[in-house]
Amino acid sequence: MYMIVLGIETSCDECAVAILDGDSFVARIVASQVKDHQVYGGVAPEVASRLHIEQISTTVDQAFKQANLLPKDIDLVAYTNRPGLMGSLLVGATFAKNFAWALKKPFVAVNHLLAHILVARYVHKNLQFPFLGIVASGGHTTLMLIRGYKEDDVQILGATMDDAIGECYDKVAKAYGLNYPGGPEVDHLAKQGASKAFNFPQPKLNRRFAGQYDLSYSGLKNAVINQRHQFRREGFDDSLVNIMAGFQYAAIEQLIRTIDRAAHDFKINQVVIGGGVAANSYLRQCMKEKSHLNFFDLPLSLCGDNGEMIAYYGKELYFAQDKQGDSLTVGVMPRVNLFRYQRV
Ligand code: KG4
Ligand code: ZN
Repeated sequence: MYMIVLGIETSCDECAVAILDGDSFVARIVASQVKDHQVYGGVAPEVASRLHIEQISTTVDQAFKQANLLPKDIDLVAYTNRPGLMGSLLVGATFAKNFAWALKKPFVAVNHLLAHILVARYVHKNLQFPFLGIVASGGHTTLMLIRGYKEDDVQILGATMDDAIGECYDKVAKAYGLNYPGGPEVDHLAKQGASKAFNFPQPKLNRRFAGQYDLSYSGLKNAVINQRHQFRREGFDDSLVNIMAGFQYAAIEQLIRTIDRAAHDFKINQVVIGGGVAANSYLRQCMKEKSHLNFFDLPLSLCGDNGEMIAYYGKELYFAQDKQGDSLTVGVMPRVNLFRYQRV
């Protein structure tokens, strides 16, 4: 059905807004806070929420100007209410609910993780349920079985037991004196190095405690950081590109092996990867080379946090919920508990 949807994303350090008009995005604004957080070497939650307060109204105004639309033209407001930084979520949620309420328009609260994955159905009209969805970002590394738009249609197959993959990239980069966010810098350096020059370990998870598709990144992070300390002690440090290549190989290999195992066990060959790490060049290359998997890649603009995924997923969810918008009492949640697949 034809609709104009305003999508608002403020769960972390991007104040992102998009407007979906029918099947086309007519506005896309991302007010990134990256530069403000660089001094801390990561996202400072208190700073993020204050910046969202400053950015939200102007970002939404800019989106309407870009779309050449007025607020009254909107049919639905979609916004992220979970998971994320509490203060950041509150700013977007409060703005979105007020905006919709004042205009007497319906609104939907959206799960950020599912939006990262389900936006692939906007890009690839031939992507069918069920498929494997992986969120690989600064806060999450989660494998899901996606059977539909609603949370009840989604099962968590596995997740990181400790650090998220993007967090691991960021911490390694910080230890080596690279800028935040570390992912793009490491990716760039790794391309120039030899991945076999350093052999960083794969985790040995005790599957009695960890699920079949769980992952772990803290051991790899420590191994790569310890390498830095060893170089410092020895006064020798000229192989940055090789270390980054070795690290990237180990980090991506773990993710890909887990995806392969899940795809095989569940007999599903369609795979979507969303979140900032989905922009990684080595991960994309490896996934495209896998002839037994059908990899539905996202454009780089839809990998990191963006307003489009919230607008699109919000619209689909609204219809999946029989056009039941949310009520003003719906809150924000820093964490989510999706149904976890039980091992047999
Ligand atoms: O999805 P996102 O924008 O925000 C979160 O919800 O976390 O993901 C940000 C993460 C950061 O950890 C960043 O270092 C990582 O994505 N990232 C990358 C690349 N581009 C961004 N990691 C690896 N390779 C990249 N090219
Ligand atoms: Zn995200």
